[in-house]
Amino acid sequence: MSNAIQSVMHETRVFQPPKALVDTATISGLDAYRTLCKAIDDDFDGFWSKQATEQLEWLKPFTRVLDESDAPFYKWFDDGQLNVSANCLDKHVAAGKGEKTALIFESDDAKVTHVSYAELLTRVCRFANGIKALGYKKGDRAIIYMPMSVEAVVAMQACARLGITHSVVFGGFSAKSLQERIVDVGATLVITADEQVRGGKTIPLKPAVEDAFKMGGCDAVKKTIVYRRTGGKVNWDEARDVWMHDVEANQADTCEPVAVDAEHPLFILYTSGSTGKPKGVQHASAGYLLWALLTVKWTFDAKDSDVYWCTADVGWITGHTYITYGPLAAGLTQVVFEGVPTYPNASRFWEMIDRHKVTTFYTAPTAIRSLVKAADTNPDTHPKHFDLSSLRILGTVGEPINPEAWMWYYKEVGRERCPIVDTWWQTETGGHMITPLPGATPMKPGSCTLPLPGIAAAIVDEAGGDVEQGNGGFLVVKRPWPGMIRNIWGDPERFKSSYFPPELKGYYLAGDGAQRDSDGYFWIMGRIDDVLNVSGHRLGTMEVESALVSHELVAEAAVVGRPDDTTGEAVVAFVVLKGARPEGDEALAIAKTLRDWVGREIGPIAKPKDIRFGDNLPKTRSGKIMRRLLRVVAKGEEVTQDISTLENPAILEQLAKPI
Ligand code: PRX
Repeated sequence: MSNAIQSVMHETRVFQPPKALVDTATISGLDAYRTLCKAIDDDFDGFWSKQATEQLEWLKPFTRVLDESDAPFYKWFDDGQLNVSANCLDKHVAAGKGEKTALIFESDDAKVTHVSYAELLTRVCRFANGIKALGYKKGDRAIIYMPMSVEAVVAMQACARLGITHSVVFGGFSAKSLQERIVDVGATLVITADEQVRGGKTIPLKPAVEDAFKMGGCDAVKKTIVYRRTGGKVNWDEARDVWMHDVEANQADTCEPVAVDAEHPLFILYTSGSTGKPKGVQHASAGYLLWALLTVKWTFDAKDSDVYWCTADVGWITGHTYITYGPLAAGLTQVVFEGVPTYPNASRFWEMIDRHKVTTFYTAPTAIRSLVKAADTNPDTHPKHFDLSSLRILGTVGEPINPEAWMWYYKEVGRERCPIVDTWWQTETGGHMITPLPGATPMKPGSCTLPLPGIAAAIVDEAGGDVEQGNGGFLVVKRPWPGMIRNIWGDPERFKSSYFPPELKGYYLAGDGAQRDSDGYFWIMGRIDDVLNVSGHRLGTMEVESALVSHELVAEAAVVGRPDDTTGEAVVAFVVLKGARPEGDEALAIAKTLRDWVGREIGPIAKPKDIRFGDNLPKTRSGKIMRRLLRVVAKGEEVTQDISTLENPAILEQLAKPI
């Protein structure tokens, strides 16, 4: 890892923001950026008070900005009240923008639907009225397990309209993962679809909900609302199940937005940590929305004429902040895509940018890397065959982007005209934290550059002291910001110890290692904990290990990450079976069984790419698994570290061989 970091830190190429953008950008030039940073430092409360007043519509104005009395349980604008959906929809309709297209939905098989702001508002109101008629109200919690669709946005916005806290579960998660989230969040409502369609294939969703219910603990769920996407076969419980179109039918077109406190939990989104089960990251209403809106305006330099496209799924934080909430609050027209980048072929993204005249394109490094490969093997899919002249700004998110992929994106997609905003942030941060500003920040491939105004990002040692420039350390944020995590649902102790460990002076600990170069640019070195990043998806090694050891054949398992050309990191599992160590075809068959098992326990994204069987795992004399050695072995490298504390050195040779 550290070698790779050294090489990116030595990256010397610098790319200036294009003049046309500097001339028109909201934050124009580095001086403007610095002035804004200073203004916030000089008058922190005054700045945030002004932003919250100007950017949001309040139903009851706030009088307090930041309440730090119960830190780290920070409260922002906490005596104010507002409604998030009214800020995303009603606001634009009232301003005469009702006819403007809010969503351009493109289905997997390329059918395109335009939904205006007025139409979206009507659908949200009808659905919200329907949910209300079923007896749901402010304070309830709903699980949303849906495909990328207009309906998923409607469901989230309808919950926000009623003050129902939603928890979206990515459609790629298994019934087991879904059940754990239903139970943990205490959901009384589940909103799902019959099936989802991706890459020409249908994948059942409602059946997974039924399986989750069968696993028990879900009795609090009174209704399951089902969006009919395909008409595929589903079982039906007359007392519990109801079609989404029936919920909306005969409802009024308007629905009074419910006033919620600024700190009311808008949503809970589960993400992986280094230990235990995924944690429910709880976000507030007002501060979160303000940060979502401001970062859309700053990072994407949002203009009324933009056609914006974020390729994430609403099951992840990126889809929350940069599809459902931020762009709508900013009144943008955005593309929502049901499918995958490689179907019907790997030019799908380029075709869609051309078709919809996309100006702002935001995707993951993994997608770029896979499309680079595809264009190499099938030149017809190369972006040069498409008219991408509408593009203004490119963005990446979720994982480090290697300089080669950055250069390809910059040259072949952006044609050297478009800045790339490499946005570093997390589920917990609510929105962007460290990123270039398209009209201000000179870019270096592989660096997320500088913190946004108001973000006191720093790199510190174990005692919370600033490290010397150029040295690595823990990435922290020294001051609260409005979009920050408020709690871990049901586990305030874990919230405090995971994110604000006492030894770090009360700073927010991101869980990433980072370095800063002589220009003050941040270079992310990856996680400092046992969290993996596979295709931009966060996975705890412990989660995969628990899934493996829950299989009847498995005695012990250790999971590590290995750098991967396409997915960034790949999951490698070292497994000790209860019986004899398998070899040859038997090993292959058991590996397949275990891979499928992990897919069922967590979801396909967690399936180990490589499984190795051993008679034992490398352990210290006190029985601790030596993961750092496994990481070396997983990479296929020679172990050169000190192994004097290792009880069973011979095991390394056995584990070094792929099956
Ligand atoms: O390790 C960092 C990596 O993704 C983690 C956050 O994952 P998640 O909560 O799933 O949110 C992903 C979408 C924001 C971080 O701790 N990460 C995210 N963005 C970048 C990144 N690593 C390097 N560069 C980035 N731009």
